[in-house]
Amino acid sequence: MQEHFDLLIRNATIVDGTGALRYDGDIGIRGDRIARIGDLAAARGQVELNAGGRIVAPGFIDAHTHDDRVMLSAPEMTPKISQGVTTVVAGNCGISLAPMPQIPQPVTPPLNLLDDNGKWFRFPSFASYIAELSAHPAATNCALLVGHTTLRVATMGDLEQPASPEEIAQMRVLVQEAVEAGAIGVSTGLFYESAIAAPTEEVIEICRPLKEVNGLYCTHMRNEGDQVIDSLEESFRIGREVGVPVVISHHKVVGQANYGRSKETLDFIEQNMAKQPICLDCYPYPAGSTILSADRAATSSRVIVTWSKTLPQYAGKDLSDIAAEMSVSQEEAVERLLPAGAIYFRMDEADVQRILAFDQTMIGSDGLPHDTAPHPRLWGTFPRVLGHYGRSLGLFPLETAVHKMTGLTAKNFGLKDRGVIKEGAYADITLFDADTINEAATFDKPIAAAHGIDTVIVNGAIVWKDGKASGARPGRVLKREPA
Ligand code: ZN
Ligand code: CU
Repeated sequence: MQEHFDLLIRNATIVDGTGALRYDGDIGIRGDRIARIGDLAAARGQVELNAGGRIVAPGFIDAHTHDDRVMLSAPEMTPKISQGVTTVVAGNCGISLAPMPQIPQPVTPPLNLLDDNGKWFRFPSFASYIAELSAHPAATNCALLVGHTTLRVATMGDLEQPASPEEIAQMRVLVQEAVEAGAIGVSTGLFYESAIAAPTEEVIEICRPLKEVNGLYCTHMRNEGDQVIDSLEESFRIGREVGVPVVISHHKVVGQANYGRSKETLDFIEQNMAKQPICLDCYPYPAGSTILSADRAATSSRVIVTWSKTLPQYAGKDLSDIAAEMSVSQEEAVERLLPAGAIYFRMDEADVQRILAFDQTMIGSDGLPHDTAPHPRLWGTFPRVLGHYGRSLGLFPLETAVHKMTGLTAKNFGLKDRGVIKEGAYADITLFDADTINEAATFDKPIAAAHGIDTVIVNGAIVWKDGKASGARPGRVLKREPA
């Protein structure tokens, strides 16, 4: 009897996401799952794709995003599906869209990275945000964190001080509600002006509800420069005292004085991994991007403005050129541009490579989807890891690179039956050409779909094919189900 599938992929070279060596086979999909893998020459598919020997891998999981709002405002998710991403982890760096009973005007930085006018901060509870995402799905799946900075803005009057016991209690109730609604953890951005006033104990106390559900604590650490080791220790302490895994977000060391210190930080992370659950992610560029500040600009070798509310015409230009054009100091130019965002060059390429190559490092884009002239990581992260760092520089084999963006990430975030190609797993799949895959986005031309991505499938539905979004929006809100 002839086997039938909804979707049949023939002649695939399968890189299954576990890190195992590639093998050849056909893949039969029924509904949202992979039904069969093997020689399916005699089978038929309602829709058939011939991979022609190209790579079939699990859809990439973006371990670190700020896609909370774009999933609703531009749900086709083109920057993500065009580079093979099928699941995004949102709500990072302390910044989540929900819960927000009412947003103060102007929007408190860095929450303005999600929306600088505030109209999208319209979800009084985490459950109401998840309900909207479920009613109006995006093209990609998501897993959601609730942000500590959002919780502070939602509950506190004066953000420049530690939360009072009453405010901590209120935040803890909101964390409990978020977790019950489906949040997979809490994120902090202790680095940022509005959260920096929070002592370690405040974070520990608001994270308490995570213990019972084994939720995650994800952090943009207080310091990624001179005090990076102290900040790692603070993060580990929070994980230990709450009793949950820690995710070190976009791990890096910044500032020229710290170039080379990734040796030290990775050693320290590895030592502590033996004692408690710790994960980390990284984006593949020696430049970061966040809101514009004079301090950060002063310690960077180059600064590119990504958006400015006051002077939008300067997006995409170098701060030094803007200052020259205005005939003012860089500091004064920053004042005139604010509120604004920027790209900062202040990392060592050797550190970026060492962190990327560390075997526990997951790949996360940290892309900022609402920036006028975004950091190229928004469109280019995954193809750049596979093409530039994997194929061209030989930093790791293809199987390892794929594992860092699929199986490892699904395991760490507890995304069951995702991130692997196996019978019974969800059919989240990216079909690409290993010889040509690479990023097209650059710092000069940051908005460009990647090279070499052929077809992208989410929950059994094709979302990207032949360089175009199909318009399908099969994404789901995923829960954390630790193995
Ligand atoms: Zn961050
Ligand atoms: Cu971030």
